[in-house]
Amino acid sequence: MGYINLIIFIMIFVLGCFGSGLSEVEKAESDRQNEAIEVRIDSLLALMTIKEKLGQLNFVVGDLFNSGPTVMTRPSDKFDSMIRRGEITGIFNIHGAEYIAELQKLAVQESRLGIPLLIGADIIHGFKTVMPIPLGEAASWDLEAIERSAVLAAREASAGGINWTFAPMVDLSRDARWGRVAEGAGEDPYLASTIAAARVRGFQGQDIASDSTLAACVKHFAAYGAPVAGRDYNTVDMSEVQFRNNYLLPYKAGIKAGAASVMTAFNEFNGIPCTANNWLLREILREEWGFDGVVVSDWQSITEMIAHGYSENDLHAAIQSINASCDVDMMADAYLKLGEALESGQIDEAEVDHAVRRVLRMKFNLGLFEDPMRYTSPKREENRIRTEEARRFAREIAAKSICLLKNEKDLLPLDDGEFTIALIGPFASDRAEHNGTWSFFGEPQDVVTIEEGVKQKLKKAKLLVAEGTDMYKSDEKKFQEALDIASRSDVIVACLGEAAVQNGEAGSRADIRIPHHQRKLLKALDELDKDIVLVLTHGRPIELSWESQNIEAILASWTLGSEAGNAIADVLFGDHNPSGRLPMSFPRHVGQVPIYYNAKTTGRPYEGNYDEAPEERVYRSKYRDVKNSPLYPFGYGLSYTQFVYGDLELSSKSLAGSDSLVVSVNVKNTGGYDGEECVQLYIQDVVASITRPARELKAFKKVWLEKDQSKTVSFALSSEDLKYFHPDNGWIAEPGQFKVYVGENSETSLTVDFYFESYAD
Ligand code: NOJ
Repeated sequence: MGYINLIIFIMIFVLGCFGSGLSEVEKAESDRQNEAIEVRIDSLLALMTIKEKLGQLNFVVGDLFNSGPTVMTRPSDKFDSMIRRGEITGIFNIHGAEYIAELQKLAVQESRLGIPLLIGADIIHGFKTVMPIPLGEAASWDLEAIERSAVLAAREASAGGINWTFAPMVDLSRDARWGRVAEGAGEDPYLASTIAAARVRGFQGQDIASDSTLAACVKHFAAYGAPVAGRDYNTVDMSEVQFRNNYLLPYKAGIKAGAASVMTAFNEFNGIPCTANNWLLREILREEWGFDGVVVSDWQSITEMIAHGYSENDLHAAIQSINASCDVDMMADAYLKLGEALESGQIDEAEVDHAVRRVLRMKFNLGLFEDPMRYTSPKREENRIRTEEARRFAREIAAKSICLLKNEKDLLPLDDGEFTIALIGPFASDRAEHNGTWSFFGEPQDVVTIEEGVKQKLKKAKLLVAEGTDMYKSDEKKFQEALDIASRSDVIVACLGEAAVQNGEAGSRADIRIPHHQRKLLKALDELDKDIVLVLTHGRPIELSWESQNIEAILASWTLGSEAGNAIADVLFGDHNPSGRLPMSFPRHVGQVPIYYNAKTTGRPYEGNYDEAPEERVYRSKYRDVKNSPLYPFGYGLSYTQFVYGDLELSSKSLAGSDSLVVSVNVKNTGGYDGEECVQLYIQDVVASITRPARELKAFKKVWLEKDQSKTVSFALSSEDLKYFHPDNGWIAEPGQFKVYVGENSETSLTVDFYFESYAD
């Protein structure tokens, strides 16, 4: 090889390595390993009986706790015999290194083929160290922190014997009545997609075979977050344009980030239940996106197709699901019956083989064949759970999740002085509720209460504490006690909100205000004419119209987990300047729901204030009793300091071909504290061949600014950011005028515009 050729060869080699993220040598090695795995799967498949194959597709809940409707009374000896006979592929909702080691031993040493078990669990926001609920973490808009939260959750859970998490839940939702908004990332497809990818990266790391990572599961495919009227499990009916431009995007982002598995959804989608929906599972997931990982049903969602009116019986439901390429049956015991369908030729054995191959491949990729005891070291369990590092981080991300909604008279931050603080409400000293929905593994004694957090900040001020009311019923004695301490205090911190079971799965609410008895308590406290800080614990946007008019300061604190009390105290006393921004709009009234910022304008838009002449406003798209706008919009959140925006500029007034243009803006901290701002960029496609939303988030950056400091923040926009799904033409960006909005939330008025020429230069 000549000298020049050698240089060219080296350049191609080096560029190739950078392009794929793997060196040529690493890539060759990974291809070799993958081929070897397929060969081993071929030989296993050749040895397996039909029963053993179907066993690999059967996944059951363990005997520790239940997260679904049918309590499976399978005593552990029943598990033992099922494992020995190869009738289950894995067990979920169990933990404990020693216990799981015993089960793995049974599978590997006493079943005919020695296939190890998948051990699954809903690791939704931490394991023993409980992090904020996902909607809370989403409010941090801090992708690095969100990824780290998943890293730490995976590290703890994998030390507890688990190898597969049913997370992230990435269902987009615009309906605050739906309780499962608590588990997702809110209403916006862009924010939710970036968070979905961050969570997958966090759970899986570089290598799911590592003993500190978990296989991730993007769920619930698809559109589970759009049930009619916000009622959990209800029907979903939507256009393909709506689906592809919004609801589908976070699933795609999670899969692109490498998620090993996907869970189907309980709901039907345009008439066909998701678990047997060929269009969703085969055409979009497998064919369009090339996903060849495991698809698991949701809990009994296979046999629930009988109640949907889509299947005649268990066998029929199982045939429909396997034919749609749903690989694993969670809790329906229906796939075990597929032997009959194979005999009668109703399904093809190749279909079963594909599903088994995907399951075995995940077990190989997890390293379970190489070392079935990989996740079951009691020593690691002891060292990696409840670490100082995880606790410190839980406090940090909890503080980052808090959104300051109102701060009249600069009541916050509080200081420690010669005065009395009354801490009132059922969340003030409670532990368990702060762990929130989906925290089966978290233990109440690990939670720092708000009372404990606040106490640690005080040297001079006096703290009085009262519960005020029970969660679900009033108690005259507690009520009077609260009023008594409140009247002897200078400032009241009211710790109110939703109990954990009032959101999450099956936690839909038609009335999304603070629950009745607590509202009554708050109104009575307000009559004392003292300054009140309302600290909310909640899993959804709460309707706060009355509170926003009557209460001086409001913190939307979500459900924050193990470090709730410390994080809330850090914000109350100014050790952490709040920087959270709402990932969902907060309505003025539940009647506005679903309410979301990226809505269409309609042909009769109304943005007025109801003070125009009647003829100007009567035939407009509006309510007669409440404004159109939300009380607190998407992206909203205050700080103890102030940020001023200016000099919004574009590098060019037009964009063409593969160019990009740079949007820059100056942000200045003009207030009295150092703080972090979340600079948000939205676009509007002004005229398009199908109507487009009034605004769409396309980028954001969090910037730290000291007092008086200013920074120029820049974003690059390219034609990729302008694309949308058109029913006839697919993903396109159309020539025409675009508006860019930059600012502190989705209602910012700072705007410039540019012209998109076309793709061709
Ligand atoms: C039903 C829920 O919908 C799903 O998210 C969860 O993973 C399973 N139950 C298992 O607990």
